[in-house]
Amino acid sequence: MTQFLKRNLPHLPVYAAGVWMLAACQSAATVVSSPAAVAATSATTMSGNPALWPKPISRLAKDPAMEKRIDALIAKMSLEQKVGQTIQPEIRHISLTDVSKYHIGSVLNGGGSFPGNDKFAKAQDWVALADGFYKASMQPSANGVVIPIMWGTDAVHGHNNVIGATLYPHNIALGAANNPGLIKQIGAATAREIGVTGIGWSFAPTVAVARDARWGRTYESYAESPEIVKAYAGKMVEGLQGEPGTKGFLSDQHVIATAKHYIGDGGTQGGIDRGQTDASEAELVRLHAQGYVSAIESGVQTVMVSFSSWRGDRMHGHKYLLTDILKDHMGFDGLVVGDWSGHEFVPGCTRNNCAQAINAGIDIFMVPEDWKLLYENTLAQARSGEIPQARLDDAVRRILRVKMRAGLFERGAPSSYALAGKSEVLGAAAHRDIARQAVRESLVLLKNKNQLLPIKAGSKILLAGDGADDIGKQAGGWSISWQGTGNVNSDFPGATSIYQGMAAAANANGSRVTLSVNGDYQERPDVAVVVFGENPYAEMQGDISKLDFASDKELQLLKKFKAQGIPVVSLFITGRPLWVNPELNASDAFAVIWQPGTEGAGVADVIMRDAKNGVRFDFKGKLAFAWPARPDQAPGLAEGKGEGDGPLFPRGYGLTYADKSSVGDDLSEAWQLAKQSAQTATIFKNRTLEPWQLMLADDLNHSKTVTSNVASLGAISYRAVDRLVQEDAIQLQWSGRAAASAGFFAKERVDYSALAAKALVFDVRVKRAPTAEVKLAMNCGTDCLAERSITQALRQAKPDQWETLSVSMACFATAKLDMLLSPFALSTSGELDMVLHHVRIEAVPAASVRCP
Ligand code: BGC
Ligand code: BGC
Repeated sequence: MTQFLKRNLPHLPVYAAGVWMLAACQSAATVVSSPAAVAATSATTMSGNPALWPKPISRLAKDPAMEKRIDALIAKMSLEQKVGQTIQPEIRHISLTDVSKYHIGSVLNGGGSFPGNDKFAKAQDWVALADGFYKASMQPSANGVVIPIMWGTDAVHGHNNVIGATLYPHNIALGAANNPGLIKQIGAATAREIGVTGIGWSFAPTVAVARDARWGRTYESYAESPEIVKAYAGKMVEGLQGEPGTKGFLSDQHVIATAKHYIGDGGTQGGIDRGQTDASEAELVRLHAQGYVSAIESGVQTVMVSFSSWRGDRMHGHKYLLTDILKDHMGFDGLVVGDWSGHEFVPGCTRNNCAQAINAGIDIFMVPEDWKLLYENTLAQARSGEIPQARLDDAVRRILRVKMRAGLFERGAPSSYALAGKSEVLGAAAHRDIARQAVRESLVLLKNKNQLLPIKAGSKILLAGDGADDIGKQAGGWSISWQGTGNVNSDFPGATSIYQGMAAAANANGSRVTLSVNGDYQERPDVAVVVFGENPYAEMQGDISKLDFASDKELQLLKKFKAQGIPVVSLFITGRPLWVNPELNASDAFAVIWQPGTEGAGVADVIMRDAKNGVRFDFKGKLAFAWPARPDQAPGLAEGKGEGDGPLFPRGYGLTYADKSSVGDDLSEAWQLAKQSAQTATIFKNRTLEPWQLMLADDLNHSKTVTSNVASLGAISYRAVDRLVQEDAIQLQWSGRAAASAGFFAKERVDYSALAAKALVFDVRVKRAPTAEVKLAMNCGTDCLAERSITQALRQAKPDQWETLSVSMACFATAKLDMLLSPFALSTSGELDMVLHHVRIEAVPAASVRCP
């Protein structure tokens, strides 16, 4: 039970599907559920209107000879060999012996996962491990079938898990550059660096159209509108894979590409990672499908499924969108890979058991850990027919097709590839030049009072801010480590910080740059440049509840310079548009530099003049996301709300040196964060109060929003009962047959941070004391949760009498109280019968459950 409630999101109430708890407490589950049990779980009929969808034509035709070869191979394969092809473990969780024993078809390394767990692994170490996997997959078998393995990696802005690689600006920056040709060059250069490590498959490009910048993956999205995403996706695929129909296609200079995350990952309500996308089918097509159209036309070989749901149904179990639309209607003939155990959230599934995902159209389970039981279950389901043979064969056919197209059957061991081990190709000068160009073209100038930029030759420049000389900060998430945290400059050999780039430019034009992170100086500068902004983050952890740049420290610095009459340039590092009116007002010039990656010199190229005071490169970048006038403008910002409520800067905005700023120093700073100044909050009183909804969930990812006076699900049942007036209380009964939970959930994040010193208080009448541990949780998203056992308090309560229990909010300190999705979720696997009345947060003299 330790994982119970740990990772999954609350499934957003209206649609009564999915759940907020993890099925991993089932990991001891034994093999196979009956077909009947599975059938019972697919309550929704997933269907739609295929006529709304485009029919892209791939420039890569099927090759009849290859199809015959695949047929012959499939005819010889054992069921074990077929199932093995569908299993993709993570390199930390599989031995070479297991690769042979289980006929494993592919492996991945997750973000921040390296050969031998060594962050500093050399190109040769990567190649040696790739060779190990290859050789293990090529062990002779009794029936003569040997199938080379594939290795997938997240090369999302360059080969970002590898020390010394060129890291390009994140996608949001590339979107601002709006240069499809450059994207193709980035793809090609990235493919070469991947080749150095003997890996042949990249989990990129992300073709999400992020519609709510509170999403922590906004920076992985090229644009909030589909045009740029469509123009880029195909180009990135061509860069990575090579051009279909040419000799270079999937040659050893190239790698297999992945369009991800299919579909609607950027459209979730509230920008909640792994959440629920409500778009109509027409909107899904218009906004979220466009990247797949050009990717398929360019011959993309793999598509990764999104963690999110569409209108209540998890994408990992979505037969209509995966099979009927993507494969049958859009003609995608490559393979569909799941995302990091995403199948475990499909109703009726666990991490180790999910025929539904394969049956819906997933060809490879990405199942980093604990994959053996999934293998066994899938094998048994293939034997029993729960997974039809035709479906399994189709999955294997697609996997083999991709492998054959990539030449894996002929290529030999990774160490024999042309680029393998060539460490000079990692971070090669030619690649860094491309990245530097991308940095230059992606910078967006928002303000330039008195034409302060570009900085004149011969200036005394004070360079301040914690982003000035921090390559980890300028690289953002998915940089060596998964979240991009924990890195120091020496982890990026060959890279250039913004300071280093400016120092070199200053050298060339007779200026002087003094680095002073905290802004102190001895000699008064002509101009101060302050580099500041968001610290690195990635999926899940990067979600926020308002579009506000919260930190205050840089603002004080900007104001200090301003007060001293020193002109100030702000260089803002960010993965999304954020409200920065106070910082804009305090700056004479303000440029958004996004997360530029390893080639920080691209910044100086634009903002510093040459020795003859000529402009070297003008600003070219235009916002691919609208910029907020207030922190509370998401959602809706992407829709370009009407008069008076529009963005501060619309999509497409970006000054050049010839332009005059449209903003002065008087932007409204009046917006006060909508922090609840309230001293209390009420969650349930006589009825569930807005924005909360009562939900029940079982241990197999089914959930239900309570909409009437009785409801039950699995081991839990609910009834509205009377305390003071009719139906003003909630009776919850757990039967103990399995784990189950009940809680109040919202569709948007709620800020209770002002209540951090109070207690969660509820009136309860315990009719039957708990027979097992009961946990009370606050939930703020996937892997964002705090829970506290309240078993003792419930056991000590006088039987069948009303009592008031309180748990101090300090017990939930590990949840992010400013972005709660649930302030109260109770779970147990034992028996319990209790009535709840009046659930609130308020001050109490001494809570019944306290935390130091
Ligand atoms: C992410 C994917 C990524 C995968 C493997 C998942 O959590 O959503 O984008 O490809 O992990 O690292
Ligand atoms: C991995 C990531 C992955 C994430 C998903 C991390 O441990 O390194 O690649 O996306 O887990 O939970």
